[in-house]
Amino acid sequence: MGEHVKFATKLGIIATTVGSAVGLGNIWRFPYEAGMNGGGAFLMVYILCVLVLGIPVMCAEFIIGRHSKSDTVDAFRKLRPGSRWHYIGYIGILASVLILGYYLVISGWTLEYLFRAITNDLTGKTAAEFRAEQNAFIQSDLRPLLWTYIFLFINYIILSRGVQKGIEKMSNILMPLLFVILLVFCVRSLTLPGSSEGLSFFLHPDFSKITPQVIIRAMGQAFFSLSLGMGILITYSSYFTAKTHLIKTATTVAILDTSVAILSGIIIFPAVFSCGLDPVAGPDLVFVTLPNVFNQMPVSALWSTLFFLLLTVAALTSTVSLFEVSIAFLINYLNMSRKKATRIMMLVIAVLSTVSSLSIGSWSDIRIFGKTLFDACDYFSAIILLPVGGLLISIFIGWFLKKNISREELTNRNKLHEPLFSAIFFCIKYIAPIIIILIFLSGFGII
Ligand code: PFF
Repeated sequence: MGEHVKFATKLGIIATTVGSAVGLGNIWRFPYEAGMNGGGAFLMVYILCVLVLGIPVMCAEFIIGRHSKSDTVDAFRKLRPGSRWHYIGYIGILASVLILGYYLVISGWTLEYLFRAITNDLTGKTAAEFRAEQNAFIQSDLRPLLWTYIFLFINYIILSRGVQKGIEKMSNILMPLLFVILLVFCVRSLTLPGSSEGLSFFLHPDFSKITPQVIIRAMGQAFFSLSLGMGILITYSSYFTAKTHLIKTATTVAILDTSVAILSGIIIFPAVFSCGLDPVAGPDLVFVTLPNVFNQMPVSALWSTLFFLLLTVAALTSTVSLFEVSIAFLINYLNMSRKKATRIMMLVIAVLSTVSSLSIGSWSDIRIFGKTLFDACDYFSAIILLPVGGLLISIFIGWFLKKNISREELTNRNKLHEPLFSAIFFCIKYIAPIIIILIFLSGFGII
């Protein structure tokens, strides 16, 4: 059933793919990673990773998805029958489930903050009060879970309606809204007094801050932000039409996604500096530092409502894509109806996110390699599984799949630019694998 579905329009193809890419990764994760890993230096390495690794690996996923028109496991089976390459598909499913486990919890937090902003509960507080309230909230057992389940339910409504009526329709409405809110914030943040210090922290690279650790984190962030390495874009591109220009789509998605990450930095750092706060706040940056920033502005309830609405919208279009990987797999592989597949996935993720949310609260004693379950899911999936997935996908396309299939897909059967194909193929075959391996080796201290 999943096999013959297509996105209805060109706009839908871009909106859904950008919707998957633009998420908490851009607005929540990117600014704090940049803040903790050298500001401008991180940004520069990040952009290089997007250009050299992100766009080629995205094209590789598009080739696999559109050519096979199947889910992420079956795609490899069709392209290389009888081989073990389809294990990459299983790695992808594992990574998407692990990411969903904690991503949904944070999405639940955004709903809590949206609710508090709307009910004017984020005004008139001190920085210490914001921190204390955030700690009390995330460590409590019930309330974060309640919001997580509400967020799950919203996902269920969209996903059970299917590819065109659910995913595509939602993205066509929400993505333009997201860009409008972002632009409003940019203007607001840049007109704050003292914003230039924040801008310079974010935009001026200090090369001495580039270490192997910074590079490996920037690579992980690029894969995470572009939704790469886990078969999401294999699944989405199986819904592309024969006319979709894959290289152009990959470049547009990468540019829009990176712009949102940069815009988030431009919004957050000037505001943080202008209020004399600390940019190295880590994951709490948007939940503790930013409400504090809005609190010091006139009509603060409006700004915090808009911001948390932005975060919720971004999170929703990404969680839907994370779910779609496994749902498409269940539909194809077990011949399930979409509704049933969606229900099963909701149940699995409800259990996982419950455990991951409690691991911040009453179960915080349970540790994996010294990390809480929540942090372990983030580290293991974003820093390790995604780049490994990307590495295997590029090796598969570069070295094992017939080159003609890649040519056919990237040039739409020889209708488009051949030199561009050669350049991208070169990156997929040589540059991406070598660089990913080198970054791993140096990041883990082996070279
Ligand atoms: N790209 C999304 C973000 O930046 O928030 C999150 C995400 C979606 C990560 C899909 C990974 C993924 F496969």
